[in-house]
Amino acid sequence: MKSHINEDDSAGTGSLTTEMPNKGTTWISEIVDMILNDGDIERCKRGPIYERVPFLEFAGPKPLPVGTEQLANMASPRNVKTHLPFHLVPKSFWEHDCKVIYVARNAKDNLVSYYHFDLSNRIQPWPGTWEEYLEKFINGKVPFGSWYEHVKGWWDQKDKHRILYMFYEDMKKDPKQEVMKVMKFLEKDLADESVNKIVHHTTFEAMKANPMANYTTIPEFFFDHKLSPFMRKGIVGDWKNYFTVAQNEIFDKDYQKKMAGSMLPLLVNT
Ligand code: A3P
Repeated sequence: MKSHINEDDSAGTGSLTTEMPNKGTTWISEIVDMILNDGDIERCKRGPIYERVPFLEFAGPKPLPVGTEQLANMASPRNVKTHLPFHLVPKSFWEHDCKVIYVARNAKDNLVSYYHFDLSNRIQPWPGTWEEYLEKFINGKVPFGSWYEHVKGWWDQKDKHRILYMFYEDMKKDPKQEVMKVMKFLEKDLADESVNKIVHHTTFEAMKANPMANYTTIPEFFFDHKLSPFMRKGIVGDWKNYFTVAQNEIFDKDYQKKMAGSMLPLLVNT
């Protein structure tokens, strides 16, 4: 899989932003692009997010770009997005000591967000009813597989590679602190003024209003924002509006079983 990483990337300057879908990939991708471009907002409007940040495993319908083709024509340092579980990431990323930023999100909010995403996304299977989707999520029968295995798989590897493991909820709580964490990880030293600009430019409201970040440039046959906008709510705890008491009990019980023994901080009732 040499084409993913330049031979001259031995310094490991490539950076991979990864997670299950609907945990904040777009958010962290925009933050990384802003940091790599020294907080230059105009420069980060040079194209839609899917042109600026290639989606490694994506090879969907035109006019959307094929991830590996974009990467082959890009110079390092490259900001790459993936939803792959750890074990499916090409080995070349580790051989080149690439940096990876993983964002995890509360399982229930992730599920609610993913359900709405699949309602609008016409190249993923139709999600069915909320009840049906909840069951599919619990059983890992959603695109990119089991949420539980995904978050645990990356967590277990985080100290063996250059992996920064982040949480959506922390990013909401203290965005500046989290942006500075990413900056440090990318070995960038930007002035406070630039950091503030990045924080402001990457708020939910700013990204929702930014056509270069909100996916409204994607054709409707691919993603229909009328069914549910990509930039939907961007909040913590929305699951409380969807889970019934009975569903919550079943989910919690199953969660405890699947996550038993994991050192991953609890990601279920925020
Ligand atoms: P919701 O559906 O809960 O609103 P991904 O990019 O991984 O597919 O994740 C999409 C989720 O991240 C959506 O969640 C979206 O609204 C949220 N999101 C995108 N940009 C955000 C931002 N700047 N701040 C907070 N949430 C954001």
